[in-house]
Amino acid sequence: MGWCLKVPLAEGEDCRSSLREKGLLDMSRAIQREEDHLLVPVAGPVRMDGAELVERELPALERKETDYRRLVELPEGLERLLPSSYDVIGDVAILKLERDLVPFASDVAEALMAASPRLRSVALDRGVRGETRVRDLEVVKGDEDLSSVHTEYGVSMEVDPSLAYFNPRLARERRRVASLVREGELIADLFAGVGPFPLVICRHSHPQKVYAMDINRDAVEMMERNIARNRMEGRIVALHGDARSLLPRLPALDRAIMNLPQSAEEFLDIALEKVRRGGTIHLYRIMERDELTAFQDRVLDEAASLGHDVAVESVHELKSYSPRMSVYCFDIIR
Ligand SMILES: C[S@@+](CC[C@H](N)C(=O)[O-])C[C@H]1O[C@@H](n2cnc3c(N)ncnc32)[C@H](O)[C@@H]1O
Repeated sequence: MGWCLKVPLAEGEDCRSSLREKGLLDMSRAIQREEDHLLVPVAGPVRMDGAELVERELPALERKETDYRRLVELPEGLERLLPSSYDVIGDVAILKLERDLVPFASDVAEALMAASPRLRSVALDRGVRGETRVRDLEVVKGDEDLSSVHTEYGVSMEVDPSLAYFNPRLARERRRVASLVREGELIADLFAGVGPFPLVICRHSHPQKVYAMDINRDAVEMMERNIARNRMEGRIVALHGDARSLLPRLPALDRAIMNLPQSAEEFLDIALEKVRRGGTIHLYRIMERDELTAFQDRVLDEAASLGHDVAVESVHELKSYSPRMSVYCFDIIR
């Protein structure tokens, strides 16, 4: 037996939310109907206008744990190494573990899947590799096939993170860039991967065309399917190859997106040649905060040495990369 408030059916929702706000709702028992009233379980002998305080046997509610860290059993001292966050791409979780936790990866993965039943696979991230930035992934639980459908700001994308780079944590940045695009712009994404920037831009703005290139053939094939999936044929042109040889063949641009955060500035010369006066270059770079000013000075000097007058309009910190480093976006106006 426990305490409940008996309220007319029509007042049940107001009563429940008011109790919840005050921390008086007993969430361990279920609300039940009794003829034309509802029995709302409360944590003690609570009084409320229009409600009768009664004692009833109500069914217990099963509470599901959503924090995977509470579901995993590890040798003493290792719990504190469990990551508080991880990436989810579609129904695939990608997890980075400290070295001491790696032998327990499948226990951690099992806990993750128990806490998030929509997950189909959990893969261990052993870092990105080479020019294509593809992750070295080891499936530790679930389906070996890591291809899934990821949605972001109204766009649905096929992504296989074992074949192409994709970062779900840049979703807000892609939406920010899309919000800057004016009607009729010609845009190039030099390092487009499976196409998230072009797709989000075309979903939320009206550029004339987005040229989207990548050196990774698998990424370009996924991008082509993503263009079709989102019915954006003709608005996004997927190109396979090296931006250094593809970009010079394009018409003059209003905007260039350079999301290659280890070395994008190496392509600044070709972007400056292609973006028209007044156009914007979004240049992404990983660095420490105290390197920002020197980097900006280098960009301005390099542009000047190539005969271009540019200004860094704004700098945005997007996400941390390591304890000291973050990914920044420099919005450069030509
Ligand atoms: C950091 S990823 C960015 C992917 C995408 N913009 C996103 O947000 O998911 C960088 C991409 O650049 C591609 N890449 C690297 N060097 C390239 C080059 N020289 N020309 C074209 N693409 C290149 C890689 O294959 C990779 O897909």
